[in-house]
Amino acid sequence: MQKGLTGSLLNALSIRYGESFYLLDSERFEQNYRELETAFRRYYPKFRIAYSYKTNYVPRLVQTVDRLGGWAEVVSDMELEIALRSGVEPRHIIWNGPVKDAKKAEGLLLAGGLINVDSLAELETIRSFALENPDAQLGIGIRCNYDVGDGVISRFGFDVQDEKFDRALRTIKEIPNLHLRALQAHFAKRDPRFWTERASGMLRIYDRVVSDYGMRPEILDLGGGIFGRMPESLRAQLGVDTISFDDYASRAAKLFAEHFGTQTDSPTLFVEPGTALAGDCMRFVAKVKTIKTVRGKPFATTLGSQKNISMSGVNPPMEIISGGVEQKHYDGLDIVGFTCIEGDILQKNYCGELAVGDYVVIGNCGSYSIVMKPPFILPNFPVLDIGGKEPELIKREERFEDLFETYFFS
Ligand SMILES: Cc1ncc(COP(=O)(O)O)c(C=O)c1O
Repeated sequence: MQKGLTGSLLNALSIRYGESFYLLDSERFEQNYRELETAFRRYYPKFRIAYSYKTNYVPRLVQTVDRLGGWAEVVSDMELEIALRSGVEPRHIIWNGPVKDAKKAEGLLLAGGLINVDSLAELETIRSFALENPDAQLGIGIRCNYDVGDGVISRFGFDVQDEKFDRALRTIKEIPNLHLRALQAHFAKRDPRFWTERASGMLRIYDRVVSDYGMRPEILDLGGGIFGRMPESLRAQLGVDTISFDDYASRAAKLFAEHFGTQTDSPTLFVEPGTALAGDCMRFVAKVKTIKTVRGKPFATTLGSQKNISMSGVNPPMEIISGGVEQKHYDGLDIVGFTCIEGDILQKNYCGELAVGDYVVIGNCGSYSIVMKPPFILPNFPVLDIGGKEPELIKREERFEDLFETYFFS
């Protein structure tokens, strides 16, 4: 459908679905996926995306990834369940994270999925499981922790300089039905400058594992931490340079291509993007409910909150769409949320036209938004996919019963 929003469309959606809602653009998500894949495959064709579910796990998106040949990157049994219920085959699931339900992890391993271990304790659990099931072939990976010069000492995975990393490798090598399928890492800072060291650090670890242990992992996974498209206003506020997917690919995938040349058993390079795919594919629409002035300062209260978009400390990209009521001009108006938090401000010092009944449309809120919305003061709003011909409801509004089923009232 036409992605430009009009007052009549939003009025119609608001009558049908409620006064505030998310608009997901699954077509944009798919475009981001294809562009990222093309950027990396240009240098190194053995490349695959494993989508980071935690960023935005609406089934429509995770099913899109599956359809396009991507894998699932999950970090909990809840996310594992989302993948399985979305029809993702276990062999296309990577389970990361520091805490995993042992029984569920065993189930995934038996079904051909990949578990990246975070600690020796976790490896010990898997070792026992492998010994108890000698007929099962289990493939695991190791989360690697190394310095990429980003100033962070990460708490995740194995310090590759520590003797425990070697102990883990020896353990895997000793057990005949346990196989090292992957080396994985993730670094939160999204600056492409760190990607050269991400890739070269990983390649050094790979070479060491091959030469010292004779094991050849088939997957080298560099994790997420890739910026997606964002409007100029947001980039300026975040202090981020203009960045393209090639800025990452030309650092990581190019190094892989140079390192492995025409070697036929070269590993597949994986990345685990979240924000890069989902960030710009969702908008949040909130209706303006009241406008008032306090000691000369105008405020417009909306049926929406910072909690809906998980963005604070910036003026997020925003558009005002008239709902049809005659607007007035305001200067220095704060567009604020329905919560009782003073700082729940969606837009500071707005200067322009506005009326009650207008729609505040916040862009770039596809990542870490609905997945992080707490049941604070109000249940969350519905999600409509505008990627097709007509808007389609893909998550209904949350209701009182959805949130309070777990409490005992008596
Ligand atoms: C292991 C792992 N992979 C991927 C991601 C996705 O990161 P991003 O949204 O920056 O791409 C995260 C985010 O925390 C992560 O922890």
